[in-house]
Amino acid sequence: MAAVQILPGIYSVGVADWNVRNFHGHTYTTLRGTTYNSYLIIDEKITLIDTVLGPFAKELIENIREVIEPEKIDYIIANHVETDHSGALPEIIRLCPKAKVFGTAKCKEGLYKHYYGDWEFQVVKTGDKLELGKRSLSFIEAPMIHWPDSMFTYCPQEALLLPNDAFGQHFASLGLFDDRVEQCALMDEAKKYYANILWPLGPVILRKIQEVQKLNIPIKIIAPSHGVIWRKEPEKIISSYLSWAKGEVENKMVIVYETMWGATDKMARQIAEGIKAAGVDVRLYDIAKSDRTEVITEMLSAKGFVFGSSTHDNDMLPNMAAFLEIVKGLKPTGRKISFFGSYGWAGGAIKEMQERLISSGAELVKEGLSFKYVPNEAELEDCFNFGKKSAGS
Ligand code: FEO
Repeated sequence: MAAVQILPGIYSVGVADWNVRNFHGHTYTTLRGTTYNSYLIIDEKITLIDTVLGPFAKELIENIREVIEPEKIDYIIANHVETDHSGALPEIIRLCPKAKVFGTAKCKEGLYKHYYGDWEFQVVKTGDKLELGKRSLSFIEAPMIHWPDSMFTYCPQEALLLPNDAFGQHFASLGLFDDRVEQCALMDEAKKYYANILWPLGPVILRKIQEVQKLNIPIKIIAPSHGVIWRKEPEKIISSYLSWAKGEVENKMVIVYETMWGATDKMARQIAEGIKAAGVDVRLYDIAKSDRTEVITEMLSAKGFVFGSSTHDNDMLPNMAAFLEIVKGLKPTGRKISFFGSYGWAGGAIKEMQERLISSGAELVKEGLSFKYVPNEAELEDCFNFGKKSAGS
């Protein structure tokens, strides 16, 4: 990616990571790659907003050099400590050692604990203003969206919001703007990002958006730190975030299961028929064959889930166990979850799945459905009825 002017005197200088396929320690698959966005403001004070992942520092510096000598940077705004946005910071500060870094108190603490640099740092709080010349920047602390240090930066003269991770997407493209990329892919990646990273933070996100709305500041452009810039319809992503944060769902249920020899798979298919008969849309995933990130994205807009596993060593199967460990952390409050599975001589999977999710905040249905070995006709009928009941009919 080269430097691109996104507004008069404001440049995108970030980089594309086309081939990254895992993020956050393999908890998130990034099948469309990602970008690490950084923005350069040319004014009386030259200001860089965020940097990029460490190995891309050279490319960031080349992009900045297309516009101005990096040594001329006066200010660096660090909206977030995480290394995908701060990794190149030591290299940038090496080029302009007099540059002053701005961020929250938690950001100062976090950057020091990552890089141990003796940098000039000014702590900022919500409402603080930084004059750049013709333009100014103001800051809005955004703790836990999604780290304690997170912050939004706003430029009133351009009605430009720079919210770092919020409203981002792991979506590598050269389109740069929302109106230059395929819309279904864009919204799919935005939803995936929310579901897999921000889902448990819904109440915090809701309060922060409402707080920003009360400020009554115009927002014409949202430039996040991953993916494309929202300039055509910034209100579209804001209203999507509001809907997701409120837990709004569709008339849809998701079945996720793992099967050893096919009996639990048979049960899953009959349960799906029952859900469909109840007039509810249903999606079905064998988690041993499915991408966890995609499944969680589907679950975000579902009103309930049905989880199944064969019993193995008195427990659930291992892919299901790993999946439920992630689901527990997502805290899917407001969703109803039912459980099922086949066993050989002693059950155990249903109890273990329920216990795994006890602290998830979801409503767990105690009476699970289990059968010995392969379900017969009558038992398949029970599966059908269990599906209908799980769907609420
Ligand atoms: Fe929280 Fe994109 O890092």
